Amino acid sequence: MNDAYLCLKDVVKSYDGHVNAVDGISIDVRKGEFLTLLGPSGSGKTTTLLMIAGFEDLTDGALELDGRSLANVRPYRRNIGMVFQNYALFPHMTTETNVAFPLKMRKFPRDQVRPRVEKALELVGLAEFAVKYPRELSGGQQQRVALARALVFEPDVLLLDEPLGALDKNLREQMQVEIKRIHGEVGITTIYVTHDQTEAMTMSDRIAVFNDGKIEQVAPPLEMYHRPATWFVGNFIGDSNFFEAAVVDRSAGTLAVGSLGEITAARPDGGIAGGRVHALVRPEDIRLIHEGERTEGLNTFDMSVEGSVHYGDSVLVIGRVGSLSLRVRVPGAQAAAVVRDGQLRVGWRPEDVHVIPRD
Ligand SMILES: Nc1ncnc2c1ncn2[C@@H]1O[C@H](COP(=O)(O)OP(=O)(O)OP(=O)(O)O)[C@@H](O)[C@H]1O
Ligand SMILES: [Mg+2]
Repeated sequence: MNDAYLCLKDVVKSYDGHVNAVDGISIDVRKGEFLTLLGPSGSGKTTTLLMIAGFEDLTDGALELDGRSLANVRPYRRNIGMVFQNYALFPHMTTETNVAFPLKMRKFPRDQVRPRVEKALELVGLAEFAVKYPRELSGGQQQRVALARALVFEPDVLLLDEPLGALDKNLREQMQVEIKRIHGEVGITTIYVTHDQTEAMTMSDRIAVFNDGKIEQVAPPLEMYHRPATWFVGNFIGDSNFFEAAVVDRSAGTLAVGSLGEITAARPDGGIAGGRVHALVRPEDIRLIHEGERTEGLNTFDMSVEGSVHYGDSVLVIGRVGSLSLRVRVPGAQAAAVVRDGQLRVGWRPEDVHVIPRD
């Protein structure tokens, strides 16, 4: 594991002196890491990037890059590249003059400008578009120019604020692959902002989930998905069944869950005996139980089916066990049979119950 490279220490930002847009966040970003800030609109993602880039002052806390404080270091001296949210290219400049702009700002020697611009355009696959104007380029091509412009001076850190937000789904996926390729090639420390959880899951080494100016959890995508630390994270990432539960016996992993009665969780570490917890079970971890199938060790229930949503490769079955609603994701092969049945027997393993403290 690499050491901390870019450190945010108890960073606070208030624009108005009353409400904190960023409310005391700490993250250690590793060198070469691809970290994604994921969270709902207004949760403080852009504000965080703007402080790292030096375009907004901190109200409190500190920033360090490679062991040095960034306080009083001007934006262009931080050697940080940024692609802004909704920030267009200079419309009156060609691709190459757009990309050359940061080099001129930073007073790079003249003889370095052309080779650097060429290299950056090569990297984003736009070498033959050098003399086109932004209006002559597609949305995806314009985003690549913005990316080339952020990379051309070989920054230590790259900040990308929802760079694909305006693109349609196919182009978005294409650009996700492209950005990951470039990250792999250049090995640059990257902080990527999105509110699209799938994008965060597929692109990141780690994800930081933002909620209302605070960080709920920082973890690799799969850990975030399978071991969410809070209700917010479990709910925000992936589809979920959440049950309010009370811990009956911590060592045996027994929880009392309303209509479900007692269920078993393999790791009830989120709770103390008698404590109130959330039990999370992912819809795809719930299986159909067939007639005569052995079910020792499983949590099993009879579910009445209320509706279903077809996804092509799977069916999401929505139903109830008593007063609790349940979402079950059934993979393709089994799916057709399911929907006809008004009553289903379903089950899940104790390992698939995630216990999260409830306040
Ligand atoms: N320049 C500003 N002046 C005052 N308040 C601001 C300013 N910029 C942002 N805010 C407020 O700070 C909070 C965080 O905003 P921010 O732009 O960081 O959110 P975000 O997570 O990037 O959201 P989105 O996903 O919509 O881009 C919001 O409540 C917003 O209204
Ligand atoms: Mg934003």
